[in-house]
Amino acid sequence: MRERDHFGSRFAVIMAMAGSAIGLGNIWRFPYMVGEYGGAAFIVVYLLACFALALPIFFAESVIGRRGRSDTFGSMQKLAPGTGWRWVGLLTVLSPIIILSYYSVVGGWSVEYLFKSLAFDFTGPEAQIEGFFGRFISSVWEPIVAHTLFIGLTAAIVLCGVKKGIETFTKITMPVLFVLVVVLVCYSVSLPGSEKGVAYLVKPNFSKLTAEGVAAALGQAFFSLSLGVGTVLTYSSYVKADENLLYSGVGTAVSDLFFAILAGFAIMPAVFAAGIAPGAGPGLVFETLPFIFNRMGVAIPWLSALVAIVFFLTILTAALTSAISMMEVGVAYLSEEKGVPRTRAVLYITLFAWTVGILCSLSFGPLSHVHLLGCTIFDFLDKLCSNWLLPLGGFLFTLFAGWKMSRADVFDEFTNGGTRNVRLFGVVYFLIRYFAPVGILVVFLSALFL
Ligand code: TRP
Repeated sequence: MRERDHFGSRFAVIMAMAGSAIGLGNIWRFPYMVGEYGGAAFIVVYLLACFALALPIFFAESVIGRRGRSDTFGSMQKLAPGTGWRWVGLLTVLSPIIILSYYSVVGGWSVEYLFKSLAFDFTGPEAQIEGFFGRFISSVWEPIVAHTLFIGLTAAIVLCGVKKGIETFTKITMPVLFVLVVVLVCYSVSLPGSEKGVAYLVKPNFSKLTAEGVAAALGQAFFSLSLGVGTVLTYSSYVKADENLLYSGVGTAVSDLFFAILAGFAIMPAVFAAGIAPGAGPGLVFETLPFIFNRMGVAIPWLSALVAIVFFLTILTAALTSAISMMEVGVAYLSEEKGVPRTRAVLYITLFAWTVGILCSLSFGPLSHVHLLGCTIFDFLDKLCSNWLLPLGGFLFTLFAGWKMSRADVFDEFTNGGTRNVRLFGVVYFLIRYFAPVGILVVFLSALFL
């Protein structure tokens, strides 16, 4: 069998993992949820969800992936031969491909918006913004072309391999991404009237924090850390044996959180400064921000055009580094389990996700009348994945690492043969074995029945 690729250094591991974690989830989902569920109160719950529930799942996935040294299916097969666990592995190959298909549609929107801002369409004297978003997503060809470009870019990076493609791309883009978002925060909080946006983010409002809000915080932590679908497992299988899994987990969680909060401070103060209602929800980034750029463009057009370009470039880059991690799960499976050459594996996954993505894209327009369980195709797939497959996958991964693998194996992997993190192991193991699975069940059931 051919030699498996590795990430070259700890920095590379964290950049790749953070690249997967930081994406559309941080930029549009997090800021809007913070507003919806009680500002700083939500952030506190989110912190708890991240560190007490999501991080143990992250560790469970890393331990399985690095121990199994294979794709999700192969790792399960190797660690629990002949059991039904490999079907869990297979399920977690399928779900990221489904996520990729609709994620790529939204990624396509960011491609379109980047082109528009490069053409000064949001800031020119006769900027055409009114109703643009609605017209764009409900049209047939434009969003499909943008989706095709996005998934094509993703495929091109994955095609170059783990080290040359994924590692090189994330190592360069992630630091740039941080700089871009810091620039945006400075611009945003410098605007007159932005203090209200800052207050919106930092003032706790516990009355808005319902059981639904707690479940939403957990769901957001899962989605944001790319958990429950084998992304972390697959990336961990490329982590060298002497790398410290504690560092990569904590490093990823902290950068993801930090980035989400920065994104909140880049967006909300500008929204308030422009006097726009913050409750726009998912449409916030694509519907509301062009208005802001436009309004500010009245004073200094070139500056506002530049900010628009930086903004959509940031979203596009963040979305790309996440999309490659979803594609890699399926590519690793096809090439390692089925012996399909990498090039062809990339082609198959791309074609599949592209086709499903087209249906998702059309579900905003000509196919908007097609409903599955009361949702459009896009919403159905998003709900299926975020609300069901992610928590289910995370739950099963903790059961596998906590109950199916032997304690000695988990200890060996987490502590690199007893040389690192030995004292912390007891706590982490408790979280993986008891706290995380029970916590997921409780939150999941209460969201279902409350
Ligand atoms: N975490 C990414 C975001 O915040 C999205 C993502 C990448 C993802 N890989 C994933 C979500 C796997 C769920 C599962 O946008």
